[in-house]
Amino acid sequence: VTTVSHVVNGTRHVSEALCQRVSSAIEELDYQPNRIARGLRRRETHTIGMIIPDGTNPFFAEIARGIEDTSFKHNYSLFLCNSDGDVAKELLYIGVLTENRADGIILVSVASGVQPILRIKSRSMPLVLVDRDLPGGEVDSMMADNEQGGWQATEYLISLGHRRIGCITGPSEFTPSANRVNGYRRALNEAGIAVDEALIVRGDFQYPSGCCTARQLLDLAHPPTAIFAYNDLMAIRVMKAVRERGLRIPEDFSVVGFDDICLAPYSDPPLTTIAQPKYEIGQQAAMMLFERMHNRTKPAQRRLLETHLVIRQSTAAAKGVVSLSPDPARKGVSEGESRHSQWKEGFAEARRSGV
Ligand code: RIB
Repeated sequence: VTTVSHVVNGTRHVSEALCQRVSSAIEELDYQPNRIARGLRRRETHTIGMIIPDGTNPFFAEIARGIEDTSFKHNYSLFLCNSDGDVAKELLYIGVLTENRADGIILVSVASGVQPILRIKSRSMPLVLVDRDLPGGEVDSMMADNEQGGWQATEYLISLGHRRIGCITGPSEFTPSANRVNGYRRALNEAGIAVDEALIVRGDFQYPSGCCTARQLLDLAHPPTAIFAYNDLMAIRVMKAVRERGLRIPEDFSVVGFDDICLAPYSDPPLTTIAQPKYEIGQQAAMMLFERMHNRTKPAQRRLLETHLVIRQSTAAAKGVVSLSPDPARKGVSEGESRHSQWKEGFAEARRSGV
């Protein structure tokens, strides 16, 4: 048994002849090592678990890709679990992963209370929170700077001359949504635009909620000229609802999303959005977890990664406002920043000359 173990695990030199005999026997018997038994013996299974809220949303799949690629390079397997937005299911999967001796968990939680963290900590399981923060103590976390992203989207629409900007949030109990609202409010305040609470409506990050929320905004006595939706799935459905009202995008109405999922460049029209560094979030979350597995006592790390504006064809200057073509000649400046600064200069000039 020990010889076979050394051959299978390469833990000690075994003569070529004996290796050959063991390998032939393994092939003849179709022997499969028992990972669970080996894990119990070694107290590690070289597996990590990830729990995501919605397996149909490309955003989470792109993060999982970064985690899986990194895990594979470090000889770990990834178990991917879908909580379907259900806290009870999330807690059940935490139990399944701990009972199967996962070596660590990466969690995108749908909870807002302390249960998930307490349950994981009670099992001394290494944990990294991704995308959403949770109460319950100091835990490693990796997410995008959502307040910055909310500000970027809103400030860009303001620079295009929009003054009534609809805002379709995610569930307010999730920290990304709450932080994006803070960025939305900050951009309006900095531009001296009063926040109209009627322009802020609650979505659920699911595609269909982009329809009912867009209709609610378009039915206002003073409807918006642009909508900032807190993820691309809702934003794509918003564009369909806007066109159902006979409005053209972007000539009559502008739409901005969030995430920059793989489908955003192929929507109709291609979606302007705030890009989250999804693959990098996954990569860094996996590395944080490996570090935590090997050092349980170091202080918790909380990392925020930059978001950035990606301008496509779903946004334009508000109707009745002269737009300026971007100046691609300005090096080192993204088209969005170039257009934005051009716009500010041009708008000031127009005001000075009384246009
Ligand atoms: O698309 C899913 C949304 O929920 C993303 O914006 C992500 O940040 C998550 O919170």
